[in-house]
Order: sequence, then structure tokens, then C-alpha cells
Amino acid sequence: MTIRRIVDLLRHGQPDDTVTIQGWVRTKREQKEFTFVEVNDGSAMAGLQVVLNQDLPDYAEVIKILNTGASVKVAGILVVSPAKGQRIELRADTVTVYGDADPETYPLQKKRHSFEFLRTIGHLRSRTNTLGAVFRVRNACSTAIHNFFQERGFLWVHTPIITASDCEGAGELFTVTSLDLGSVPKTKTGDIDFEQDFFGRRAYLTVSGQLEAEILAMAFTNVYTFGPTFRAENSNTSRHLAEFWMVEPEMAFCDLDGNIELAEAFLKYVFQYVLETCPEDMEFFNQRIDDSVLATADNIINNEFAQITYTDAIALLEKADRTFEFPVSWGLDLQSEHERYLAEVQFKKPVIVTDYPTQIKAFYMRLNDNGKTVRAMDILAPKIGEIVGGSQREERLDVLERRIDAQGMPKESLWWYLDLRRYGTVPHAGFGLGFERLVQFMTGMTNIRDVIPFPRTPLSAEF
Ligand code: 4AD
Ligand code: MG
Repeated sequence: MTIRRIVDLLRHGQPDDTVTIQGWVRTKREQKEFTFVEVNDGSAMAGLQVVLNQDLPDYAEVIKILNTGASVKVAGILVVSPAKGQRIELRADTVTVYGDADPETYPLQKKRHSFEFLRTIGHLRSRTNTLGAVFRVRNACSTAIHNFFQERGFLWVHTPIITASDCEGAGELFTVTSLDLGSVPKTKTGDIDFEQDFFGRRAYLTVSGQLEAEILAMAFTNVYTFGPTFRAENSNTSRHLAEFWMVEPEMAFCDLDGNIELAEAFLKYVFQYVLETCPEDMEFFNQRIDDSVLATADNIINNEFAQITYTDAIALLEKADRTFEFPVSWGLDLQSEHERYLAEVQFKKPVIVTDYPTQIKAFYMRLNDNGKTVRAMDILAPKIGEIVGGSQREERLDVLERRIDAQGMPKESLWWYLDLRRYGTVPHAGFGLGFERLVQFMTGMTNIRDVIPFPRTPLSAEF
């Protein structure tokens, strides 16, 4: 007997179909002669209503242990449901309980729990409506991302998680070591002797797959990497994780305009795909989490993004009729409040900011002729702020060497990156999309910890 997914039965099940399902009990309602149990298997927001008649074998015992959280297998026949809001229900013939869940201690009650509380039960929270919807949308986003790039002939490449280079140069790296921390070997000068470490040098968890993606773009033209990245950034905000996923396309023979075009088409595609494949979940977010979720999706899909240079953005912020917490002046980085003002108040849609000052951006961004700004582009989204960071890359060897020196970075360890500019260099560009920020933007979830199954943040790595 094949087990049917509940989502398939809810959509296509017909009266008189004989079916078997498995899942977890969400609710139980006992009546005089029968009991209603809602079973959910995670395939859809809604569960399937199961009707247990009192002439079932062991009815009383089964009913007693079929509490919220219990796991079951039910075989029976689909019938037209007399109840409102559901087309069909399952009349049970046999019920197997895999495991019960003591109602005295099971942490998930029928009432609404706060997201803060749910984070303390990370092993159970995926069984709630909201987290269930988030992780289905997250899955749909991943699928859309692969479809988008595969349809355009991009090669999916796997860049390393352990690396020796700091791509962003921000020093927010986690060290990876197998040294005995109780007796760390030291050099003559008293520093830690990483030559005795596993890799014979100091190694880190990657902050970005970009540098390696550039290597592969110089062979395959268009590539993308999509994997976990790590930042030891002590930011306890609703938009920062220490471990997050990033999508990074890299295109040879591409400039900043091509990069921007791709990024906008990409975001439109992913939103469209999720609306088409997860309509119930998106409707739920719109009703229960943020009533602008569907309007935002519509806005993304149907309107062009705004575009402005950093210099013009600063001028707008200086004229803004509000006082910001952080100062605004040419040369300073945009803070989240500035980014949100631009996207939410000024443009009321995503805005692409280009050509940032050289000193606030990474060494690899292409220097403009004015010598003061680089071919950077950030996409700022309402409510989130920066969601994409990208640039055209510096393909000129001499300019790149000067940038690396100016930032005081070790040129020797980037020899291979410089070699790419020695042998067949081409104009190229790419960007990084923060995957969790995308899921936040799409679902209206206010805290990034609630859009990844197991969030890693300062002082927190449970589950
Ligand atoms: O702007 P970032 O630092 O860009 C890079 O890493 C480039 N190497 C990408 C590239 O061009 N291939 O990071 C890219 C995006 C940000 O725009 C943001 O959405 C997300 O990654 N991000 C974070 N998301 C969650 N938690 C954090 N701590 C994040 N830091 C960056
Ligand atoms: Mg950035």
C-alpha cells in the first residue's frame, strides 16, 4: 500500500478513494459517537480531517493516546466532508499509533506561541503553521534559484567551505583548527604556530564563495554557487546570522549593467515561482504575519526596481525630513536605517544603489575612472535593507595590486586570484544574495532567526 501525501489528497483526492496517510496529530475533537483528528504531514499548511468511528477496534484506547503531537498511520476511505472549509475527509478503517505525545508535557499547545518561545524548542517548532509555511517557501525559493540559473546555462559550482582567504577583508572569520586548544603550539615569537595545524596554515570558514567562483567563471563563463557562509560578526540584529546561505552568480564578459539586469530578473523570477507553487502559504503570511506580503510580491514582479548612485542617495538622505541615528555624509557607509528610508519612504520598492566610495567596499571591486568610487551595486529592499551585494570586478592586474596593497592585504596568498588577471583576464561581475534575507522579504517574517531551521547567532548554537 502506498502512502499518500496529504497535499495531494487535499488537491486531487476523490470520494471513495481508498488511501493511507501518515503524520502528526494537530488537534483532536471528541464527539459522542466519533472523534475528529486533524493529521498533518508537513506537505501542506492544512491537515487532513480524519473521522474515527466508535466501532473501530480499540477505539477508546486509540482515542486516549491520539493527542496533539502523536504520530499515526491511518488507512481508510475518502468521503465528502459535510464540514465547512474542507472538501474531503478520511473515514478511518485502521489506525496505527507510532508514538504518543504526553499532553501534560508536549510544549506545543493549541494557543499561539511567540516566535521567541518557539526558538527555544527548535526541535519542535517546524510542526507549527508558521514555521511549516516558512520552510516550504524556503524550499520553493531554492528550487526557483536553481531553475533560474539552469535555464540560463549557468553551471552550478561548489566552492569550498574551508578557505585560507578573507574575501570581504572585514576580518569576520571563524578559524578552523584541529590544534589542541589546551596546549597550542607557539612560534619563537610567541604567535600560534599554524604550520603545525591541520592544513599547515591558518584556515577559516568562508565568508563568501566569490573568489573561487571567479576562478570557475574564467573557465565556464557563467557559474553560480549556493551554499552556507559564515561570519563572526557580533551583530545581534533581526537581519544577521553567523551562518547563512548565499547565492552567488559570477559572469565573465559582463559589466555592472549586465549584473544589475540579471539580479532584477532573478528576484522577479523567484517571487513569481513562489507565488505559483506556494499560494496557500503566501496567503497565510499575508493574513497572519504582514498584510503587505502579496502586494510586495506583486510590486516586485510587475515594477522596475529603482536605481540611484551612492552619491545621489547621500544627497537624498541629507535632504530627508527626519533625523537619523547615524550620521549621513559622503564617504560613510549606509546604515540599515538609511537603506530602509530609501527603499520604504523614498522609492517604495527595491532600489539598486551603485558606485560606492572606494574605501567602504571590498578590494576586488572595479575602480571607476574618478578614482574615488567603485562599480558596486547593493539592492536595498523595504523592511530588510541590503538583500544583494555585488559588483563588477577589477580585472586590471596593476589596479588590483594597488587596491590590495592599499587595504594592507597579503598579496602573496592571493597569487592565484592575481593570476586570473595575468592569463586571459576579462571584464566580469557577480553578486551575492543573502538567502535568509530573501525569505524574510518574501514572507514578511520580522526576525531572520525564524526563516532558517537552526539559526546560529552570538551565544546560540543549540539544536
Ligand atoms: O554584501 P556581502 O558581504 O557580499 C559578498 O559577500 C560578496 N562576496 C558577494 C558577491 O559579490 N559574490 O554579502 C552578500 C549578501 C548581503 O547583501 C546580505 O543579503 C547577506 O549576504 N548577508 C547576510 N545575511 C545574513 N546574515 C549576515 N550576517 C549577512 N551578511 C551578509
Ligand atoms: Mg554588502
